[in-house]
Amino acid sequence: MRIVSVLFWVILSNYADRVFTQTCNATYPYSRCSSNLDCGCLPLTRSGNGGVCAYLNVPCTDLIPCENDNRTCTEARQVCVKHSRCQNIPLCYPLDMIHPNLCPPTTFRPSSSGSNNDLCETTTWQQQGITILGTNSTQPIWNPYDDDEFFVDVDETIYIVDYRNDQVIKWKNWNSPGEIVAGNGSYGSANNQLDSPNSIAIKKDGTIFVCDAGNYRVQRWYKNAQQGQTIIDNIYCTSLALDQEESLYIGSPGLIIKWPGNQIVAGGNDVGTKLNQLGYLPRIFIDQNQSIFVADEGNRVVKWTIGAREGIVVAGNNKAGNDSSQLNGPRSVFVDQMENVYIADTKNQRVVRWLKGLSSGTVIVDLKITDQYFDPISFSFGRNGNLFVLDKYIARVQMFTIDKNTCARG
Ligand SMILES: *[C@@H]1O[C@H](CO)[C@@H](O)[C@H](O)[C@H]1NC(C)=O
Ligand SMILES: *[C@@H]1O[C@H](CO)[C@@H](O)[C@H](O)[C@H]1NC(C)=O
Ligand SMILES: *[C@@H]1O[C@H](CO)[C@@H](O)[C@H](O)[C@H]1NC(C)=O
Ligand SMILES: *[C@@H]1O[C@H](CO)[C@@H](O)[C@H](O)[C@H]1NC(C)=O
Ligand SMILES: *[C@@H]1O[C@H](CO)[C@@H](O)[C@H](O)[C@H]1NC(C)=O
Ligand SMILES: *[C@@H]1O[C@H](CO)[C@@H](O)[C@H](O)[C@H]1NC(C)=O
Repeated sequence: MRIVSVLFWVILSNYADRVFTQTCNATYPYSRCSSNLDCGCLPLTRSGNGGVCAYLNVPCTDLIPCENDNRTCTEARQVCVKHSRCQNIPLCYPLDMIHPNLCPPTTFRPSSSGSNNDLCETTTWQQQGITILGTNSTQPIWNPYDDDEFFVDVDETIYIVDYRNDQVIKWKNWNSPGEIVAGNGSYGSANNQLDSPNSIAIKKDGTIFVCDAGNYRVQRWYKNAQQGQTIIDNIYCTSLALDQEESLYIGSPGLIIKWPGNQIVAGGNDVGTKLNQLGYLPRIFIDQNQSIFVADEGNRVVKWTIGAREGIVVAGNNKAGNDSSQLNGPRSVFVDQMENVYIADTKNQRVVRWLKGLSSGTVIVDLKITDQYFDPISFSFGRNGNLFVLDKYIARVQMFTIDKNTCARG
């Protein structure tokens, strides 16, 4: 490793441009380029889109303008970059601050088609959301409640689980009225009704599973059906998720059950915050290895691998808070193929990403900056990696467009 770095250093000093152009694509300045999130891509003045992956926390006052040609630096071990956050004119950047020891390159998984394959540890999103559903305060699109959840499928069709109105609403076209796809809008226990539903999972064939919490049952509604069937009875259901084989996982106070079979696959040791326990309202996600990720009131996300007797904390630390190692009221969790964990950190009004193995996270969208009262109770990624967030405060769905360039290939 050390030899590689030294070699890189030598190459860097001698053939700067060539190495740099390979280092990052600066079409979008400051885009992520390293596993160190304090680094960003700065455009080199001498090479088109080519950039250097630079440590960005260098005070602007330490950077001197490039020579009059705006391309060269007289000082040894410096390169001329554009750094508009500091100054409009190109500046000389110290080579030490672009050393790969400081900004280690990241290897990325290759892209492939399908949902969420564009996510990686450097992906970024536009910070200003676009409201795509629900702008009418006199007639909200649903009746917001803390336990609502939503789901965005690969077509970017949106489903909202409307707890208070006892139904599931679907928007295939964001500009048209929604269509009720489960429940009939009045609570009850008939086959065509739901009572306080709080989560759904949807199979590829369009079958919808519903946590019918108030009826203590899990319902299955086939596509276009007028009524559902009970697949599990006598359970207070808090969350649903499917694995890649389309087995269903059901969160319930203190435990997770897998259906069919109904075996307990996580928790089962009373409600609590020990590693072998789960909270009262576990929210779940299942990854491609059938590991179960649970966000609960312990202000944490725990991972249970197949057959595990206890979970491993992968985000949060049980104490509610807003520093980067803490969560406050996590309600919704998603895990990408590199095992990075995304969480709706609801009471902190942000969506965060915890890279695999790290003990702190970074904010990927900070909702209180643009909207003081944003209450993000659920989130989901669409086909292209666009981030959708359900806002309870205004009863709306906002979309945060993915910055396509930020997931480098290689
Ligand atoms: C250098 O950049 C500044 C600011 O963009 C510009 O005003 C000036 O003309 C440039 N000089 C040359 C030689 O390109
Ligand atoms: C909002 O809903 C009210 C009540 O249904 C309706 O009169 C009004 O036209 C709607 N406004 C918009 C902008 O859709
Ligand atoms: C919903 O279905 C129940 C039972 O079938 C029925 O009694 C009720 O009137 C229906 N409600 C609506 C709003 O259609
Ligand atoms: C965390 O909360 C404290 C106290 O409310 C506040 O002063 C601080 O700005 C917050 N920090 C962040 C990163 O939001
Ligand atoms: C799945 O398991 C394989 C083999 O143990 C491992 O290499 C891979 O990183 C795991 N992937 C995820 C998303 O956990
Ligand atoms: C850099 O990214 C832009 C935008 O994604 C793309 O059009 C361009 O081809 C890329 N350039 C290189 C050298 O990869």
